[in-house]
Amino acid sequence: MLYQHEHDKALKSLIDLSRSFWKSKILLVANELDVFSKLSHSPKTAKDLSRIIKTDPRATELLINALAAMGFLKKEKDYFSNTEVSKKYLCQGSPSYIGFALRHYNYCWDAWSELEQAVKRGHPKRFLEQEALHKDEKRARDFTLKMDFTGWKMAEEIEQMVDLSNVKSMLDLGGGSGCYSIYFAKKYPQLHCTIFELPFVAKVAEENVIRHNLEERVSVVTGDFTIDPIKDVYDLVLVSFVPHGFGEKEVHLMFNKVHSILKKDGRLVVQDYLLSSQDSSCEELAVFNMHMFLVTSGGRVYTLSEIKNFFYKANFSILQVLRLSERSDFLMGREPYLFIGGVNHEKK
Ligand SMILES: C[S@@+](CC[C@H](N)C(=O)[O-])C[C@H]1O[C@@H](n2cnc3c(N)ncnc32)[C@H](O)[C@@H]1O
Repeated sequence: MLYQHEHDKALKSLIDLSRSFWKSKILLVANELDVFSKLSHSPKTAKDLSRIIKTDPRATELLINALAAMGFLKKEKDYFSNTEVSKKYLCQGSPSYIGFALRHYNYCWDAWSELEQAVKRGHPKRFLEQEALHKDEKRARDFTLKMDFTGWKMAEEIEQMVDLSNVKSMLDLGGGSGCYSIYFAKKYPQLHCTIFELPFVAKVAEENVIRHNLEERVSVVTGDFTIDPIKDVYDLVLVSFVPHGFGEKEVHLMFNKVHSILKKDGRLVVQDYLLSSQDSSCEELAVFNMHMFLVTSGGRVYTLSEIKNFFYKANFSILQVLRLSERSDFLMGREPYLFIGGVNHEKK
């Protein structure tokens, strides 16, 4: 039996959670208005700031007062400046800037506002993630930079888990910013990587490849794997965090396509999250699955038996299932897994 003070505590956290979107939106809007970068050179009053970001002075004061109360700004007399955390993560130009991820979450806000209707209807009105990636260059870039932020650390871990010493050609299907291909190509001079991506994301990958002087060994090919053919054959195909963005039909299609472009002894390396057969045992994944329902047409995290089924149906054997460390995707609090498959040659 719960005591009254335990009930009070539970009620307080229930109410806090219910209105936590107030604070979330304050932070997201401040990021959208680039408040933090605008305060990076000198402290400013609300009036000064409102003139720079072209907002109403009184409403701006409310916004930045709340940010100061939440610990994202400091206030001295009437002057506001950044805290250490805002300086590091929320000011453009900082090497740890994460504002693009916040812009992506703010963009997804509309989908979440539609949750009730989507639950009644059984699907969302729009597929915001797909719209961003296919039709909106700025949104596609924000999403890609968000993936890039944690991708390098995961690339480092994968490189330690998968032997790439004999791999000469790798396809990075839906390779995002290119961080995996670039990281591996730097480690292995014999390796040539091809990033296959949608046009807006491919642009980000191309810029990254040029920045790392790897144009000779990392190519970027634009295409949509659901409709376009993938050329050439490869020793290894990496599919990182792509399956959960799609429904089963597209994932089957993707695995079949990958099978047809792998060499005889080729390997398929899939990185993604893994749902336990108890859908509700991990809060992060259960909530993430709600998000995928709202922003994609059919995307969700799959269970081990579903993933095995993707491999087997496309005529792959599963050679290994490995778990990346908790630190690798610490931002999301969801541990990624690696599924390594080999090409079967017997007829299906
Ligand atoms: C979650 S991101 C993962 C990016 C990268 N592999 C990583 O792990 O950081 C999924 C990627 O798949 C790409 N993608 C989605 N649909 C695609 C399609 N139809 N054809 C090619 N790439 C696609 C997206 O543009 C996006 O970069």
